[in-house]
Amino acid sequence: MVKVITYGTYDHLHQGHINLLKRAKALGDYLIVGVTTENFDINRGKINVEQSLMERIEAVRSLGIADEVFPEEYVGQKIDDIKRNNIDIFTVGSDWEGQFDYLKEYCKVVYLPRTEGVSSTQIRAEKKLKMGAVGTDTTINKFKYNSQFINGLEFEDVYFDEKAYFDFSNIPNVLDSYKELLDRNEIVYVAVRPEKRYEYIKKALLAKKHVISESPIALKESETKELFELAQENNVVLFDSIKTAFLLSFSRMILLIKGGMIGEVKAIDATCTSLEIKDWLEKTSFYSSITGWGSIGLLPVFKILGTKYTDMNYVSFDSEAMKDVFAKISFIYPHAVATVTLGIGVKSEGDIRISGTKGYIYIPAPWWKSEYFEIRYEKVKDNKPFYYQSDGEGIRMELVHLLNCIKNNTKNYYVEEDISESISKVIHKILMNESED
Ligand code: CTP
Repeated sequence: MVKVITYGTYDHLHQGHINLLKRAKALGDYLIVGVTTENFDINRGKINVEQSLMERIEAVRSLGIADEVFPEEYVGQKIDDIKRNNIDIFTVGSDWEGQFDYLKEYCKVVYLPRTEGVSSTQIRAEKKLKMGAVGTDTTINKFKYNSQFINGLEFEDVYFDEKAYFDFSNIPNVLDSYKELLDRNEIVYVAVRPEKRYEYIKKALLAKKHVISESPIALKESETKELFELAQENNVVLFDSIKTAFLLSFSRMILLIKGGMIGEVKAIDATCTSLEIKDWLEKTSFYSSITGWGSIGLLPVFKILGTKYTDMNYVSFDSEAMKDVFAKISFIYPHAVATVTLGIGVKSEGDIRISGTKGYIYIPAPWWKSEYFEIRYEKVKDNKPFYYQSDGEGIRMELVHLLNCIKNNTKNYYVEEDISESISKVIHKILMNESED
């Protein structure tokens, strides 16, 4: 019996896949098909596969061409599979010509002709949504750059709500009014200064547009709540963009903590500071330490310990006219404490420590964009390093998640609504110089 094996993602199963599978089967008597898992695809740079692994496996299975269908989970698995199953022929489409020649050591390798004119990428791209930005923050350029890796998204428009100090020449269309931006796009990216976000987001939601906004989305808890309600009423998505939340390493770290890897969390100490943007701060006075760093610094605290703290204290320097250069915030929870140190104008080591009853997590500076973290235990030999690659500082994963939320009418589960609301609440207190009630 001649055994044949082939692999693929099979997202939105199409005629190209069917032809390939029939040809593969015709090479022998028994066909085994490996379907790539989301993790495997992310690690090889394919990030916006739209169907789940189960859907894709089911689609291949229901064709009835394959004799066996199973998931492909890790690099190097092909060699294992071939040896274990006594495979005679490995085959894939001609778009992979030459790339699997290393398997010739184990079996015959055949590149089959690819069907012209159809691909999963093309099917995903046909459902393109248009996104435009309002504001003058440099993050607009980062979003533009990373959007080109996301099929299903077209980012071409920007409206400057005030004088733009940076070079935005890579954005094709500069529009004259916010109304035009709303008319031309289904998604609005709000990157105006913090105190103006509420108004811009509100207008977009009332126009039934999906919104992704820089964080904090508003400077008062009540405003943030109101905006989420408005999004719900208008059946659109309001998405808080804290890039760190979407980093693969950060989101995996949260899951490990929830899974008990360091025991019960007793303390979190996070520091975020910067000096370099002070130059343009003086030009634009966009951010203070709390409006610039607050969302990022508070994220791990609220993600890990929740938003129901029992007490909060802070010290902030030079907080007049929203220009505080340094803030230190501490939270008391029934069984844990957290401190968050923020500075724009004061520099410190930007690392984070999360201490638990079994061990602690350490992320070196700059922790908010780190692809690496360590779990450390009493015995050094038990320490474990973790590395997860995230191209585009989390922005690509973020855009993929945004499109999924829009498509499935679901909520942002990396930055939940109560987290956005609590962030606004803390920021407001510090800006208003209020004490905890
Ligand atoms: N394939 C093919 N003809 C096509 C598309 C895919 O023969 N028009 C083959 C590929 O060569 C591969 C298998 O089908 O052997 C699974 O490919 P996959 O990567 O899942 O499909 P694509 O449509 O190429 O996906 P994407 O656009 O996401 O790369």
